[in-house]
Amino acid sequence: MCGIIGIISNQDTVSRLLSGLKSLEYRGYDSAGIAVINDRHIHLRRTVGKIDALVETVGAHPLSGSIGIGHSRWATHGGSTIQNAHPHITDQVAIVHNGIIENHRNIRLSLEKKGTSFSSETDSEVIVHLVTGYLNQGLDPEQAAFKTFEQLEGAYAVAVIFRDFDDLMICSRKGSPLTLGLGKAEMFIGSDALSLSPFTHDLVYLEEGDIAVLKRDSYKIYDQNKVLVERPVTKSQISGEGVSKGKYPHFMLKEIYEQPDVIRRIIQKYVKGGVPCVGLDIDWAAVDQVTFVACGTSFYAAQIAQNWFEGVAKMSTRVEVASEFRYRQPPLSNRGVTIVISQSGETADTLAALRYAKSEGQTVIALVNVVESTIARESDYVVPISAGPEIGVASTKAFTAQLLILIFICFDILRSKKKDFPDFAHILKALKVLPLAFEKLLLDRKLLQQISQKLAGNKSIIFLGRGAMFGVALEGALKLKELSYLHAEGAPSGELKHGPIALVDEHTPIIYLMPDDVLVEKNKSNLEEVMARKGQVYLIGGASASIYREKVVHFFEMPDLDAFCAPLLYTLPMQLIAYETALIEGSDVDQPRNLAKSVTVE
Ligand code: F6R
Repeated sequence: MCGIIGIISNQDTVSRLLSGLKSLEYRGYDSAGIAVINDRHIHLRRTVGKIDALVETVGAHPLSGSIGIGHSRWATHGGSTIQNAHPHITDQVAIVHNGIIENHRNIRLSLEKKGTSFSSETDSEVIVHLVTGYLNQGLDPEQAAFKTFEQLEGAYAVAVIFRDFDDLMICSRKGSPLTLGLGKAEMFIGSDALSLSPFTHDLVYLEEGDIAVLKRDSYKIYDQNKVLVERPVTKSQISGEGVSKGKYPHFMLKEIYEQPDVIRRIIQKYVKGGVPCVGLDIDWAAVDQVTFVACGTSFYAAQIAQNWFEGVAKMSTRVEVASEFRYRQPPLSNRGVTIVISQSGETADTLAALRYAKSEGQTVIALVNVVESTIARESDYVVPISAGPEIGVASTKAFTAQLLILIFICFDILRSKKKDFPDFAHILKALKVLPLAFEKLLLDRKLLQQISQKLAGNKSIIFLGRGAMFGVALEGALKLKELSYLHAEGAPSGELKHGPIALVDEHTPIIYLMPDDVLVEKNKSNLEEVMARKGQVYLIGGASASIYREKVVHFFEMPDLDAFCAPLLYTLPMQLIAYETALIEGSDVDQPRNLAKSVTVE
């Protein structure tokens, strides 16, 4: 959350700061700003809204400078106003911050007592006043920044520049990501490797508590104990390609359509000689429990996988929302494995959960899309989900990729436990036809549009499913609400009569997921109960659900596919329905309100 970019160069930095911010926009888009130093003056431009608004302002009121910092904000403290936008400046110092300074109130009070006046409601503004105060006491910039960082509690990635030093930038990270980019007589900082990829591929990932002091052609890093350290220089593999919308109006739609290729790519990568193998050097037979931790869509992937891990691999499995798990701190056995799932690899709660699991002696596996991420770096094993860059804020292809890899891990466990699984060949066959099934289903987009036409404008929509389909129902409800802002909730069909059925009447749309699986007869009974109360049913199901074709508002027939792989395929109509409904509702599909792609604050 919040994107930071910074450049020290011999040339003007403005257009590159803006393009860096554009690629960081997924981290927050409430407001944006840049500050550059020129002629011993700090020049500032800030706007409310997206980076395009900032570009426009900069076009109308140009500025230049060979050192500068930029910020794209996801508001935590204080609304989306120009005053709350970063950078925050005094006459001598400019700063950008990502994270939350938890002790900001105390610092603010004590600064105010000494006469400092604040111009924003943010927690971040204390940083710029602290640094300025120390400079005024006669400390040099390095000392002033160090003394400031010492006082900050909470999570931060911060960059500071100084009016009187146009070849100096000081940054630090604790809890929020920050990466250095090494150029030729130029230095860069960015919240992720992607934002730096157009400028340089030589990256240095700062570690917790690190402070970096940058000049155009040199840098030094101090660790949290203020000891000078060397951090490895990594060659980034990110090309910056694949981040355009191509022929699609939205990244989300492009990413939905990429799924057949993503599945093909993953199968090619992980299935060798007809046998799926993730290749982790883990003796699963000795593992007593798998704990999944994740947030949001990644959490639902774990919830679906629990059905496979327990039902098929007979592995005791728990699934935990990272933000709850990290504070509940349940005891974990040192024979256990924790699998953290995160598209971005930066989600603050998931990272904290990972650290807790490690402290309990667990082996930690990370399933990430962004392999150059903090979660990947801190885990014992990394399994790249290989979905390619996902830019749309709503996760789509990453979810499908996570599910596929989780199936493969399930097979690894079976093999390691030497357990026979008679349906193995059947499932493999189904996986092979999965890309084609996705492609065929994508041709039916118009039929799903018809469902969206009817859903738009409704107050509340219920998604129902059983077994692994419960997770798909939850994901369907999440996609719909986050994109179209309609209230939606997912429930297990069997749980209906314990409460949710009270919501069912002739005005309630119900998306009912009914694949041809072992639970189909149970599902039929639950569906009858809904129809008896005149619920408006949109049935998405296999051949056996077709008996309801004439009785429901809409029946969408799914291709015949092995039930084990069905959750992947049933996710596609969920994604398309959410996309189409959002278009009808007129919301911003790629950047829905209040959300950010990378949630780096808890
Ligand atoms: C919903 C969505 C979010 C993320 C969640 C976790 O479409 O994208 O719910 O799944 O914020 O993010 P990652 O997977 O990056 O840890």
